[in-house]
Amino acid sequence: MSDKFLEIKNVSKIYRIGGLLGQTKIAAVDNVNLALERGKPQVLSIVGESGSGKTTLARMLLHLIQPTHGEILIDGMQTGGQLNGAQLKAFRRRAQPIFQNPFESFSSRKTVDTYLFETARNILGAQTQAAANRAVDEALVNVGLSAERVVGRYPNQFSGGELQRISVARAMIPRPELIVADEPVSMIDASMRMNVVNLFKKLRDDFKVTILYITHDLSTAYYVSDQIAIMYRGSIVESGPSAKVLKTPSHPYTELLLDSVAKIGEKWNEVVRLPDLETKEYGYKGCKFAGRCPYAREVCRQARPPIVTLDEQSQVHCFKPVDYQHPAPVSGS
Ligand SMILES: Nc1ncnc2c1ncn2[C@@H]1O[C@H](COP(=O)(O)OP(=O)(O)OP(=O)(O)O)[C@@H](O)[C@H]1O
Ligand SMILES: [Mg+2]
Repeated sequence: MSDKFLEIKNVSKIYRIGGLLGQTKIAAVDNVNLALERGKPQVLSIVGESGSGKTTLARMLLHLIQPTHGEILIDGMQTGGQLNGAQLKAFRRRAQPIFQNPFESFSSRKTVDTYLFETARNILGAQTQAAANRAVDEALVNVGLSAERVVGRYPNQFSGGELQRISVARAMIPRPELIVADEPVSMIDASMRMNVVNLFKKLRDDFKVTILYITHDLSTAYYVSDQIAIMYRGSIVESGPSAKVLKTPSHPYTELLLDSVAKIGEKWNEVVRLPDLETKEYGYKGCKFAGRCPYAREVCRQARPPIVTLDEQSQVHCFKPVDYQHPAPVSGS
């Protein structure tokens, strides 16, 4: 068996946009590679501005959409491709989602426990009411709630933070090895965010769950994650231990993100965004960041950047550290 728990190998998702005339292809996810070691549960944050491909990557990981190229293995099991009913059930026991908007995850017409019991029966496979009750109770206690507080109530009887904790409880019922949480705190009150983010650390430590935490927010990513991967226009530009990536960034885009945070707190997304360049950037034959990069040279516009291994755990996709391929600009130019 592979020594990797999660392997994302050369994964791309290509969308065609526009009408019959003038169709453009965009690589929403562009040849992404990532791996996590087996037996080492951790929080991996995927950080990037709007349109960088985070949700597309998450949906491929969760077997909700298929990659155009490449393969994803979770604990040796391949997502994408064709899974039959039993395989899909086995997959759902391993990998569970948490979505951005808790008010959309739960229908306003159903009591929230409906979802908890459905998961207990259909995914965990609880055979009796007593077994389902036990699983639901336990999951709620693990997120700091209780069946008494939750059962029989509708979504509008909870705050966004509580509902998101119920989403976490639901995801934990099958005792998954992986939780993919796509912007799980962006729609909830700022005062409740740390509550949910702290839960991720607890699940990692107490239940050995690996968490993929997708976010715009560098401060919670820094706080919660062991590893971090920075995405830009479908590509991972830098990855490694979060303290290293965020304290000593190697990619100019990571530097830009950190500068923006320093200037404007958490709201960097609007500032660093250049929407008019967006579609063009996806199709660049060189580095997609070259148009915004203060260090860009000709080589950056001509070829995709190399993957530079900085140490055992860290990589950057950039010409900048590869000096011999990257002659200094002529002074005054
Ligand atoms: N079904 C689709 N058809 C065509 N294009 C799509 C589709 N889904 C996503 N895209 C495009 O792929 C790119 C990546 O989108 P994605 O939603 O993965 O980004 P994101 O990083 O999650 O952004 P956000 O932070 O806004 O949630 C965007 O340019 C988006 O418009
Ligand atoms: Mg998204």
